Amino acid sequence: MMKHLPALSLLLLLPLPLTSQAATDTKRGESLLQQRCYGCHGEDVYVREKRLVKDYAGLQKRVNFCVHQTNTQWFDDEIADVIEFLNSEYYHFKK
Ligand code: HEC
Repeated sequence: MMKHLPALSLLLLLPLPLTSQAATDTKRGESLLQQRCYGCHGEDVYVREKRLVKDYAGLQKRVNFCVHQTNTQWFDDEIADVIEFLNSEYYHFKK
């Protein structure tokens, strides 16, 4: 019965994947968006002709505003990931 233990402890010792803290992660941004952001509007607002957001700073402001609407306590880096995802997917603003 004990013979599986060494293998198990080896597994536990495996280093965690080195996720970079500094770089934004658009994949994570996308899944956060999918989990939380489709309550009030879909992605159509990001691509409509008369969209509200006109530049990168405006996008940051709007996302922060909308995050507060969702009742989610997101960390700054999660918000940054969502902003980065929206920018790379829909808005394409220069920073
Ligand atoms: C409680 C409702 C609500 C939720 C939830 C919500 N939003 Fe919004 N969002 C709005 C409203 C209202 C607008 C403005 C739409 C309009 O004026 O037609 C908007 C507009 C936006 C825009 C601007 C679109 C444009 O015109 O360029 C972005 C970007 C945006 N939301 C991102 C998000 C993100 C990211 C989330 C998830 C964190 C989110 N929203 C969740 C209500 C919400």
